[in-house]
Amino acid sequence: MRTAIFPGSFDPLTQGHVDIISRASNMFDKVYAAIGCNSQKKPLFPLEKRQAWLQTVFAQNPSVEIVTYEGLTADFCKRNNIHVIVRGIRNGKDFEYEQQMAMANRVICPDIDTIFLVASPALAHVSSELVREIYRLGGNYDLFLPKEIANL
Ligand code: PNS
Repeated sequence: MRTAIFPGSFDPLTQGHVDIISRASNMFDKVYAAIGCNSQKKPLFPLEKRQAWLQTVFAQNPSVEIVTYEGLTADFCKRNNIHVIVRGIRNGKDFEYEQQMAMANRVICPDIDTIFLVASPALAHVSSELVREIYRLGGNYDLFLPKEIANL
């Protein structure tokens, strides 16, 4: 069975995440949408909410399994026999950050590969950071969220 992981904070889940996870689910038999819980950044939205959003959006996609984990992504991969990490790339800044993380993960666990899916052009401006900013300032962030979870 071909298995991959899409790790993230999902703070909040955006249309961009949904696009990448859906595309990955067409390439793998199983994709873990994995919420990393040890981030130094304190999340804006509680873990339960982030989990519920993913479960709602992917309820009809049997290839996607929602999980949470603490510690290193590479360690979660080792424990669960996962060898492919999927991440989305919107621009050069994403690439620089992701390249470094991919290389570090290969040092930690040499049989993990990270593959990058390029963001769909219509969603390349979407980021959780941007949604958090609009949310805090009282703007209309629904435009960036999957329609199933609009209104957060
Ligand atoms: O959605 P994000 O914030 O870009 O996701 C970042 C995430 C969760 C994928 C990354 O911070 C991560 O993998 N955290 C777990 C700890 C870890 O493995 N860090 C990388 C070591 S090189």
